[in-house]
Amino acid sequence: MNYPFWDVPLIGSGWVIGGIAIFHMMIALFAVGGGFYLVLAERKALREDHRDWLQVLKGHSKFFLILTGVFGTVSGVGIWFAIGLANPEATSALIHNFVFGWAMEWVFFIIELTTAAVYYYTWGRISDELHLKVGWLYAAASFFTLVIINGILAFMLTPGDAWLAVAGTGQESSRFWQAFFNPTYWPNLVIRCLICASLAGVWALVTCSRIDGVRKPELKTSLVRWSAQWLLPTFVLLPVAFVWYLWTVPESQRALLQLGISTIGSGMFTQVTRAVLIVGLTSAVIVAVTYAFAWRSPREFNVGQALTVVLLALIATASGEYTRETLRKPYVIGRYMFSNGVRIATVDKLNVEGYLTHSVWTRQGNDVKLAQGEAMFRGQCLACHTTDGYRSMKRLLGERNREAIANLLKLLHDYKPDSPYRAYMPRLAGTKDEVAALGDYLATLNPPVVPAKEATKTAQR
Ligand code: HEC
Repeated sequence: MNYPFWDVPLIGSGWVIGGIAIFHMMIALFAVGGGFYLVLAERKALREDHRDWLQVLKGHSKFFLILTGVFGTVSGVGIWFAIGLANPEATSALIHNFVFGWAMEWVFFIIELTTAAVYYYTWGRISDELHLKVGWLYAAASFFTLVIINGILAFMLTPGDAWLAVAGTGQESSRFWQAFFNPTYWPNLVIRCLICASLAGVWALVTCSRIDGVRKPELKTSLVRWSAQWLLPTFVLLPVAFVWYLWTVPESQRALLQLGISTIGSGMFTQVTRAVLIVGLTSAVIVAVTYAFAWRSPREFNVGQALTVVLLALIATASGEYTRETLRKPYVIGRYMFSNGVRIATVDKLNVEGYLTHSVWTRQGNDVKLAQGEAMFRGQCLACHTTDGYRSMKRLLGERNREAIANLLKLLHDYKPDSPYRAYMPRLAGTKDEVAALGDYLATLNPPVVPAKEATKTAQR
């Protein structure tokens, strides 16, 4: 543990990243899809001479500029802060491997941000043709930001054999492209493109819902319907793309989903299954709401209904991201680094030398052993658990006494192939003494309850 630990009570640092990431995704994917929406709508308006469309599109592009240029960029930087604090080891590994990838990413960001502003401020000031060209430039640049970040995100789930073969040798950058175009790259890209298209439609419906349907019935009908169509490809192709994606995910990770489905209702892993079900259900409701309200009665389509669709899309995005995160367990970088920042290849060494040996962050207390146990807990468990809140350690330890805790830790430490915990928890690293200290510390979390009678007796005495 070379870094101090960031302890976020109740929700855990993972949900800080998750919260920012979900918010960011809703905007960033819109930034890509919305760019294509704007140019395609503008082109259609020019070709078919719908001058009134252009006025609405101008308004939409302002909303687009503010949402993506302010909230999208700020939340994007927020992700960097959060991952750097929550998982410095993984962030460092990603930067070391993909520094060139991020350099490319930022070039496209700059083009994207510049052209988005130019596009909005040049409505009616330059020729239609040139304005459309600016729009296309924006769309292409934003698409490339997705193409690049997708490689890095997909890498975290499936780094691929070529990269893993050299991981830790200092030669990783020689496998840059193999790591980039890793096994889940293409299905992941297709899924994201589909979501981009539907988010373009979802946010455009918000703009369209504000058109006065009484005074401009034709304008509203044509734009609401045209925007609603943007949701169609996603709902036809997403299930297919999702199956393709699962097919490319390694067997061990896919097993996590199956584990959830086979244990429905029995506690363990129902969250993943629930998340998958929620994605399916909310998507179905989005289609139903869009069809019933936007497509069938476009003139009456109102802001409340449009925001309902946004909210549903947010829930679907959140559940989808949660599923992706869970599929990756117990790794932050598949088969290379566990979620708590421990590299698989170093566990044997840590078992001999000690996990805390190289850490300067261990708190010194009166009780050295407990302080060590706490440091082990922070370093190796809190990446996925909290003491009292999300995946509460107190709740999960339940009735276990010191001995039962020792058994659990032995399972985690030995990490035998048949251990049920292998599917979602990292291997516990450390010397015998360190594991014992962790056990002592865990035992203090749920102190044995003094039976009520005894307590009164003590009080009376
Ligand atoms: C990669 C994330 C991750 C890390 C790191 C992790 N766990 Fe877990 N742990 C999980 C998940 C997921 C579950 C299942 C939670 C549930 O069923 O609600 C779980 C369940 C548990 C349970 C309940 C298991 C049972 O059979 O009752 C205990 C106890 C536990 N973890 C202890 C630990 C300890 C101790 C550490 C640190 C040495 C640790 N975990 C590190 C993800 C993790």
